[in-house]
Amino acid sequence: MSPKNPLWKLEPHTLGKHLVLRRYLDAWFPIMGSWNGRILFIDGFAGPDEYEGGEEGSPIIALKSLLEHRARRMISAEVWFILIEKEKDRAGHLEVLVNNLNPPLPSNCKAIVLNSAFDHTLTRALDQLDAQAKKLAPCFVMVDPFGVSDTPMEVIGRILRNPRSEVYVSFMYEFINRFKETPEFPRHLDRLFGTAVWRDGMEIKDQEDRKQFFYDLYESQLRSAGAEYVVHFEMYEGQRLVYAIFFGTHSLKGCDRMKQGSTLRTAWARLWGVGLRTIEGDTASAVQRQRVGQNRGDKRLRSF
Ligand SMILES: C[S@@+](CC[C@H](N)C(=O)[O-])C[C@H]1O[C@@H](n2cnc3c(N)ncnc32)[C@H](O)[C@@H]1O
Repeated sequence: MSPKNPLWKLEPHTLGKHLVLRRYLDAWFPIMGSWNGRILFIDGFAGPDEYEGGEEGSPIIALKSLLEHRARRMISAEVWFILIEKEKDRAGHLEVLVNNLNPPLPSNCKAIVLNSAFDHTLTRALDQLDAQAKKLAPCFVMVDPFGVSDTPMEVIGRILRNPRSEVYVSFMYEFINRFKETPEFPRHLDRLFGTAVWRDGMEIKDQEDRKQFFYDLYESQLRSAGAEYVVHFEMYEGQRLVYAIFFGTHSLKGCDRMKQGSTLRTAWARLWGVGLRTIEGDTASAVQRQRVGQNRGDKRLRSF
């Protein structure tokens, strides 16, 4: 459920998501930034960039991955951080922190805070690119909502249709179970999955089988939308599954890196005693299957 205050308490599972993110971006920036003209980090649900206890949010984690990188000199590309946040007070908080970055961003980088909604902003930007017969620059897109609304597969698919695009999506499985009786639920799930087939999953009694059905469906929709490789891993708090993260990419190397990041994160979480448990999905088998070939806005956004 969305908190009312602009800042909220950092949950242990969020820390896990951040550790994987940082580790992945530490690899992504120098690889992608050394041979592309422009690369984009798009945080579609950026948040205020800070938690109640002063912990860092995903935008600053991404910015610091670049700013503190030992191989920063290798990153010759223009790097744009597009930070989208719908709530005005959170977007304002984020903007202040970004403007006060110390050290500031180097001249080849810029950070743009947009106080707008993810799906509308991306739809508008992609429409404009289509009209100009242009492609989206290589990008890592983080899609991290509180629930299951406003993350339509249609938009995620349009992102994935661009070469060298990647999506890192929080798939809020707990919400599917918790809010299934609410009237708006079917409309949100039709958009989330991009198909009505999810309704078959609601009939499955066994909890594990039902979860697997939804994971398989989401993965297959990401693949149909254009992801060549899909990795997923689960975020637990104690024994409670909070959500899964699905990573879709065109790159086998990216897929391997994400798998390494999620494995390391589990080890760190244990070490730090933050009470986390990550169960990896079929990442290894997904990679293996691919190897053997069995598996098949805003004005400022105009020049993406
Ligand atoms: C889970 S929090 C993001 C946390 C952040 N990514 C992090 O890791 O630090 C989700 C954020 O998305 C914002 N939000 C909700 N609906 C949105 C939408 N349709 N478009 C953009 N932002 C939205 C919320 O106000 C909230 O700040």
